[in-house]
Amino acid sequence: MEDRLKWWQKTNVCEIYVRSFQDSDGDGIGDLKGITQRLDYLKKLGIGAVWITPCYPSPQADNGYDIVDYCAIDETFGTMEDLETLISEAGKRGICIVMDLVFNHTSDQHAWFLESSSGKENPKSDWYIWRDAKPDGSEPTNWRSIFGGSAWTWSETRGQYYLHTFLKEQPDLNWENPEVRCALYDTAIFWLDKGVGGFRMDAITYIKKPAFTDGVPDAGDGMTAIHEMIANSDGILDFLHEFKDTVQSGRDIFTVGEANGVNASDLPEWVGSEGVFDMVFEFSHILLGLKEGTAGAGRIGWTLVDLKRILTDSQEKNAGNGWYPVYFENHDHPRCIDHYFPGTADSNMAAKIIGTLLFTLRGTPFVYQGQELGLRNVAWDDINDYNDISTRNRYGFLISEGKTPVEALAAIHFFSRDSARTPMQWTADKNAGFTRGTPWLPVNENYRTCNVASEEADPDSILSWYRALAEIRRSHSELIEGSYEEILHDSSQIYAFIRRGTTAEAIILTNFSEETAEYDAALLDGAALVISSAENSTKGMLEHLESAVYKRKI
Ligand code: NOJ
Repeated sequence: MEDRLKWWQKTNVCEIYVRSFQDSDGDGIGDLKGITQRLDYLKKLGIGAVWITPCYPSPQADNGYDIVDYCAIDETFGTMEDLETLISEAGKRGICIVMDLVFNHTSDQHAWFLESSSGKENPKSDWYIWRDAKPDGSEPTNWRSIFGGSAWTWSETRGQYYLHTFLKEQPDLNWENPEVRCALYDTAIFWLDKGVGGFRMDAITYIKKPAFTDGVPDAGDGMTAIHEMIANSDGILDFLHEFKDTVQSGRDIFTVGEANGVNASDLPEWVGSEGVFDMVFEFSHILLGLKEGTAGAGRIGWTLVDLKRILTDSQEKNAGNGWYPVYFENHDHPRCIDHYFPGTADSNMAAKIIGTLLFTLRGTPFVYQGQELGLRNVAWDDINDYNDISTRNRYGFLISEGKTPVEALAAIHFFSRDSARTPMQWTADKNAGFTRGTPWLPVNENYRTCNVASEEADPDSILSWYRALAEIRRSHSELIEGSYEEILHDSSQIYAFIRRGTTAEAIILTNFSEETAEYDAALLDGAALVISSAENSTKGMLEHLESAVYKRKI
């Protein structure tokens, strides 16, 4: 059965936020050579593929997600030769490099956009989404961009508005134009020829635009969130099948789409042999407890039962033909301990629960750098310490609404994407061993105790737990190939499930509460303990925040 699986289903992936992983030249910004220096660390974590965030030339309005050249490397991160060295050194260790393809939009400094915006008559006039103003001169629709403000910006040279789902510096490409699609596919093939092992497809649910009509205002600004208007629009799958046929067909790579707006029920059309990608990141568990608002999210209560329902739904909808990228963190969201265990008294045990789920749910585990150390959110008291444009925009909006700086900062602390972007913590030395210069973003103050060197030396650390779980997943095939069945689903404390293989099954039990939790010990008849985060694991009882994996023959 296992042989039917592809290499990327059996391995683990690490997402690296290139700016923050390892600086090799002292300019305070992480780079490609820095990643090459740390490949052995990744290997020890059982990593077989590294997704690197965009390192293409870019004005960095959105830290590289605004690209001016899809087939080159930004000098901040190194050279093309550095990337080739990274690919070959990684390859020697059985690790492939996965590039981030940002195909919904370019930078407004991209040559394509400069040409397209130069006037209405030019060979690239139709490469972006241009519309006339309404008769009163206002924007073509009332759509609010994802980072706030109208999704339309006026171009003086062109005398029209252009659409941008994100920043005004990130104009959306017109996928209806076959020349645009061809040019994009060519850039993907350029990277395949360099030997990359796959692609993460940025913001891919927004490439198809439906009719340009006003939405019902969802806030006092009279606008409606663009996400609600355009995500996963009818016809998008035609584009993506074309991408798959042109770029992926016949190649042993994997694709993973960032698919906000694709729900569990849509998955059969999106993944698997009949789908368009090998995996898609859906957002239900990441958005749990968040409420959209005009200036970013607000928070609402949630229970473990809600989280279990969401995870089980994704597992079940991906059963059979589909495959799931298991993730709890990335560079756009709060650190997972703060998200799922806010205010916990025992972050070591809490982090181990997430690590356990990451490696035991059905799918390919995606570790985000620093998650394996238990890195936490930051809460700086000066907006100038924050770099992330969406954080800064949200702060500005709150101030314009009359909030004091203290209130506005309190509101952004939980959500800021910078929490996940602080430099990697390697040692207890100055700047956490990330750079010998001045880091581009402050290091999280907890680096003196929370760092790779100290956790490597501690068998009870979060890093040791992640390494152990990665090895357990590798060596117990039911954790890779087995089916998923949730058990104890009415429990408000325990999340538990069985991964059933052909000759054995693993029983995974996690106690999300800070109190002991009891369950029927008969559930574990004939099962032996594989690993537990508690000192003494007892059948029938989980200690506070305990995670345990049992196994029995069937
Ligand atoms: C999703 C990326 O993960 C995020 O960092 C970026 O800001 C947007 N897409 C726009 O490209």
